[in-house]
Amino acid sequence: MRTYLVTGGAGFIGSNYIHYMFKKYDNEIRIINVDVLTYAGNLENLKDVEGRDNYTFIRADICDRDAINKIFEENDIDRVVHFAAESHVDRSIVNPEVFVQTNVLGTATMLNAAKKAWELPDGTFKEGKKFLHVSTDEVYGSLPEDPNAYFYEDTPYDPHSPYSASKASSDMLVKAYMDTYKFPANITNCSNNYGPYQFPEKLIPLHINNALAGRDLPVYGDGKNVRDWLFVEDHAKAIDMVQEKGKLFETYNIGGHNEKQNIEIVKTIIDVLREELDDSDPRKARISYDLIKYVSDRKGHDRRYAIAPDKIKRDLGWEPETMFKEGIRKTIKWYFENQEWLQHVTSGDYEKYYESMYSNR
Ligand code: NAD
Ligand code: DAU
Repeated sequence: MRTYLVTGGAGFIGSNYIHYMFKKYDNEIRIINVDVLTYAGNLENLKDVEGRDNYTFIRADICDRDAINKIFEENDIDRVVHFAAESHVDRSIVNPEVFVQTNVLGTATMLNAAKKAWELPDGTFKEGKKFLHVSTDEVYGSLPEDPNAYFYEDTPYDPHSPYSASKASSDMLVKAYMDTYKFPANITNCSNNYGPYQFPEKLIPLHINNALAGRDLPVYGDGKNVRDWLFVEDHAKAIDMVQEKGKLFETYNIGGHNEKQNIEIVKTIIDVLREELDDSDPRKARISYDLIKYVSDRKGHDRRYAIAPDKIKRDLGWEPETMFKEGIRKTIKWYFENQEWLQHVTSGDYEKYYESMYSNR
């Protein structure tokens, strides 16, 4: 039975990936989820897999060399899927250091531990071992508004935020391990994900949560920045396909071919919520475009991201399957039907964060 070590599996994409993998492979695989449970890690996301014999959760910090080495020593890990990171751009602008710590040093720790466990005395690696580093399209910087400009795998790196700089650094480390040691790895660079279990600091869940509470919907700058949205399950599928069929040492860009201005997203959220809410629900009357509030722009705000997923389509046959119209409806419905989950993650410290981030904008 193949054993996967998933880092950051209690976060948004990691938990969706774990669900996807058990749905697809059921008892054919074993998953060890290593997560330190920062504010973004939530074991509630994985309630329905907890009872499985082929699932183990280990609370550990990816920067803790001894803890990570021990996991490799005690388990014959075949695949690493490395999601664990600090992931929110706004937080990186306020507190860059933890991004360097987790995203750069944490990745170095993971690479070293896997190398140590997998390397043979002659410097080659045990058969079938693979490390997948999950990264972002933000490493490529910002695109002009020209609709023919896209990010490709060979687009030069040009990160702007401390978050994207830390992810770019971690990508470079993985590249260095591949080039220097022929370490068996792949890198994937993906566009903006959306779907269930996303922490409500990111645009889509934040605005769903705010709208339901009748709070303002903060739109940075002129609202015309463009992101390329991908339903999270399509990302999970792409990651699995890269590990199954991808060529080692290659980078694959993953994107939804689904560019939207932020303001379009915000209006869609309002429209769909209004359709979903019963006329008798008092929240319905409060949810309208009047909630939209233009606020000061994010510092260094990248204008446009857009991935050309040509390579992964051509070489592996992957394509985004979920149309935005269907995916956003599914997502909004999920938050709507899981308000207890929302309440749990937005209580306590998150409220303080929200106040400090938005009160002076
Ligand atoms: P997230 O913030 O929802 O989850 C991150 C997870 O990592 C959390 O469970 C957290 O507890 C864990 N973690 C953080 N620091 C850790 C540490 N030191 N040790 C162990 N665990 C730690 O993030 P996400 O949105 O699910 O993103 C996952 C990965 O995908 C990240 O590497 C991110 O850069 C990348 N990515 C995200 C997107 C997106 O749109 N969200 C797009 C492309 C790439
Ligand atoms: O492109 C991939 C990246 O997408 C990932 O690597 C990151 O981990 C992920 O957080 C996401 O980064 P963004 O900065 O694009 O996502 P965010 O949801 O924070 O913002 C999306 C856009 O919406 C961005 O242009 C900023 C804007 N925005 C965001 C928030 C939270 C607003 O206008 N208002 C808001 O309140």
